[in-house]
Amino acid sequence: MSLRSPHLILAGFEASDRLGQEAMNIGARKALVVTDKGVVNSGIEKKVKDHLEKNGVNLEIFGEVMSDPDIANAEACIEVAKKGRYDLIIGVGGGSSMDIASIASVMMTNAGAVHDYFGINLVKNPGIPTILIPTTAGTGAEVTPNAILTDTKEKLKKAVVSPHILPRVAIIDPLLHLSMPPSVTSSSGIDALTHAIESYTSNNATILTDLFAKESMIMIGRSLRTAVANGNDMEARYDMAIGSLYSGISLANAGVTAVHALAYPLGGQFNVAHGIANGLLLPYVMEFNVSGNIPKFAQVARFLGEKLDHLSLLDQAYQAAKTVKAIYRDLKIPQSLTELKVPKGAIPAMAKAAVNVTRLMGNNPRSMTVQDVERIYEKAL
Ligand SMILES: [Fe+2]
Repeated sequence: MSLRSPHLILAGFEASDRLGQEAMNIGARKALVVTDKGVVNSGIEKKVKDHLEKNGVNLEIFGEVMSDPDIANAEACIEVAKKGRYDLIIGVGGGSSMDIASIASVMMTNAGAVHDYFGINLVKNPGIPTILIPTTAGTGAEVTPNAILTDTKEKLKKAVVSPHILPRVAIIDPLLHLSMPPSVTSSSGIDALTHAIESYTSNNATILTDLFAKESMIMIGRSLRTAVANGNDMEARYDMAIGSLYSGISLANAGVTAVHALAYPLGGQFNVAHGIANGLLLPYVMEFNVSGNIPKFAQVARFLGEKLDHLSLLDQAYQAAKTVKAIYRDLKIPQSLTELKVPKGAIPAMAKAAVNVTRLMGNNPRSMTVQDVERIYEKAL
């Protein structure tokens, strides 16, 4: 059993105030801040700048990260990073900014092009140090060894998976999440919940990852609806920030399962946001997976706040899927594939693509055929 995580995790209200000190501890003189336009406009970028400059760290900004970034977007950042001779890269934003920052870091010390490193453990040398600071609560990118880009030619999401993708420092500060609009709070929050449930029921789960997954489900289960309904509720923002961190640690070590595999074609072919694709498919995949691990699915329902002693163990396990469906329904985001303009005719090709994501399908607690996947997509129509 093992547990991999960043060298240092700083978490809690005002944790980001320690950014300058940590940059100094790393010995940084010149940092590249990798972020997106939303973060630049929100004022968070200014806060980052102040903390760095106060500690004598010069910085430049690459503020062009796209949502669901493609390879060209990563290459643009790498070009800037190579020219500037930086000794620290700081990713600030959602998963996209953090993933691009991590990829840019390893491309400073490894020859070739980004596409040479899609796959598992292909990155030979550690990159230059990174600090990752999420401004959403969901992707877990600050603690996971995966960085994901869209290959626009093949219409596929591809991942660089390597321990060198993990940052030197991850800083999780719920105060940076207050400006997140309800739509982002819900789609990133349901992604975090998916990470917790999938890693908890993954074939690779351990008692170490279960600790994080369990606490994550408890925190997200009690606070996701509130964080979406009232973005200024500090307790709910705290639960979502820390719950997302926990689910990221669990995911990084136990992996995710079929929900993510089925969600990838929706993102690659129909540009459905990652969290929305996951949230929509999650209850249907859970329903299918129940027989693969009945006691654990029953626990999922409990962690999400259900009182179940009057039910049989099997009914408790099925309740987990119903509870997740109720949460998703309350988030007021697209509720069906039809609403997302995904036609029924696309299902056979999507099902084939999903079963080919063997990296994730291999973790699934119940084996799935192409026909099983087609039936799950049909239920979500
Ligand atoms: Fe995810």
